[in-house]
Amino acid sequence: MSRLVDLRSDTVTQPTLAMREAMMNAKVGDVGYDEDPTVNELEQRFAALVAKPKAVFVPSGVMANQIAVRVLTKPGDLIIAGRDQHVVSFEMGASARNSGVQFALVDDRTGVLRTSELLEVLDAEHDHQPHVAMVAIENTHMVAGGVPWALEDVRSLGSSLATTPLYLDGARLFNAVVATGTSAADYCEPATMVMACLSKGLCAPVGSLLAGPTDLMTQALIERKRLGGTMRQAGFLAAAGLVALETMIDRLGDDHVRARVLAEVVGATFGESDYDPASCRTNIVAFDHPRAREIVAKLADRGVLAGTVAPRRVRLVTHAGVSDDDVAYVADAMKGLASATR
Ligand SMILES: Cc1ncc(COP(=O)(O)O)c(C=O)c1O
Repeated sequence: MSRLVDLRSDTVTQPTLAMREAMMNAKVGDVGYDEDPTVNELEQRFAALVAKPKAVFVPSGVMANQIAVRVLTKPGDLIIAGRDQHVVSFEMGASARNSGVQFALVDDRTGVLRTSELLEVLDAEHDHQPHVAMVAIENTHMVAGGVPWALEDVRSLGSSLATTPLYLDGARLFNAVVATGTSAADYCEPATMVMACLSKGLCAPVGSLLAGPTDLMTQALIERKRLGGTMRQAGFLAAAGLVALETMIDRLGDDHVRARVLAEVVGATFGESDYDPASCRTNIVAFDHPRAREIVAKLADRGVLAGTVAPRRVRLVTHAGVSDDDVAYVADAMKGLASATR
């Protein structure tokens, strides 16, 4: 097989030449002593982008989420979150293991949590039920198909919460920014703490950023240490992260256009999925199919790597390593396969 198109995730992206050069030339120091100028610059740049007082550089999105959970909760607390969010379903139970918390799960099939459902769980505290220490949302919402939140929905959720902290898992925050034209600062304003990943569509090799108020970020530094995430000369990684923030956000729109082309093909070829291509607004096409794993296997036979995110849910993710030509190739592969799986 001569061709391979990798749509498993935007985490498979490779660092750009500019990133590699920036890494070569990075000024570095020991992060544990707060002496890495490039890490400090990256943290300040991100904090400014999301309009929070302080940011902390961490090795991964999972670690950012786990630090946030440790900072905002105590063992036995409840976190309200959507059933399919990463922090709930894709971190191997880390929140229970690391922080001793439980989740109160609400419906997030559309990617967005309904305020009325959240308020019901919060209200149950008055009826001898556990304390809700935080509400977590995901923007864009991965399993729902990279769904970006409408700013008014984040605002209305935030304003209905009174004192309960809102946490924003913005692993793909900048996809939401590009898709909706909402600024990162506006999206993050209702949230107490926010994280974004540099190592997905933005193509940096490693790293995520967690931001919030200074006192909580001081706690975050302690939790980062406890989880083993205090790196040393991490300026080499931060240098790539700076290039990611400077040069890779605007181009995410290209990934969105390509995902939409694939979404149209999915809608047209897998009628039984009842998939609406218009639901694809960023870089993820996620659709239900009774033979999801068979589809993934057959696509792999044709040189197209995809994945499943639930037993009957296929996911295709576009990113900087996927060209228009690749998309045309995948479209042909899917059409051929649809007739074969019918
Ligand atoms: C929504 C969301 N949050 C968090 C993460 C975790 O990021 P990482 O893979 O850097 O740990 C991911 C990873 O795919 C994600 O999709």
